[in-house]
Amino acid sequence: MRKNIVAGNWKMNTTVAEGVALAKEVNSAVAAAKPNCDVIVCVPFTHLVPVAEAIDTAILGLGAENCADHASGAYTGEVSASMVASTGAGYVILGHSERRQYYGETSEILRAKVALALENNLKPIFCIGEVLEQRENGTFFDVVRTQIEEGLFNLEASDFGKIVLAYEPVWAIGTGKTATAEQAQEIHAFIRGVIAGKYGEEVANNTTILYGGSCKPSNAAELFAKPDVDGGLIGGASLKCADFMGIVNAF
Ligand code: 13P
Repeated sequence: MRKNIVAGNWKMNTTVAEGVALAKEVNSAVAAAKPNCDVIVCVPFTHLVPVAEAIDTAILGLGAENCADHASGAYTGEVSASMVASTGAGYVILGHSERRQYYGETSEILRAKVALALENNLKPIFCIGEVLEQRENGTFFDVVRTQIEEGLFNLEASDFGKIVLAYEPVWAIGTGKTATAEQAQEIHAFIRGVIAGKYGEEVANNTTILYGGSCKPSNAAELFAKPDVDGGLIGGASLKCADFMGIVNAF
């Protein structure tokens, strides 16, 4: 059966020293809490090596927030999937709405990133989700289906099985406005159905689908209680150990 996961996405926050201190604190808290889910922190590139050295990745998983769409070469400023993997990280967030929106990441670019992540044994945490207008005009089901089809459905079933999905409605990210547990369940069940239609029920039932967008200790338990919500991708609330653990302990 699929895993429950709570993953932090630190985004562009913390210095190296602050990040290492936070990661150590979370690592100790997870070791003590023995939660009923896997716990991961996804951190800026600069933080990967020192955080990997500061934590036990068997207790606290480590991921990057992005990787390049090329394997190596003359791409100034980019960081490749193999570089990320060489730090000890096991995960990489791909297709976050902030990357799609601010950095022009298309499905074509994302397919290349997913392929490189998988080649380097990184598990992609692949983000999908609609903007407010698409929620309000009811096109969000189609939007999410297209993001999954275009970004992932070129994969063989064995590779699709390595993907973690994160549904993050853009209108809920950093806004304090969360999808209701019913809204999350409705779209998560839809997403699982789209996967089942392509890869079959077994693959669909084994796929972890996270919710992201203003998830916090006060709403996590209600969201995670829904049958198709398998955990969370946490932005703001992952930057304070107590808040993050409040979400982890919601399982
Ligand atoms: P917030 O939890 O800050 O809304 O961010 C969610 C997110 O974008 C995680 O990737």
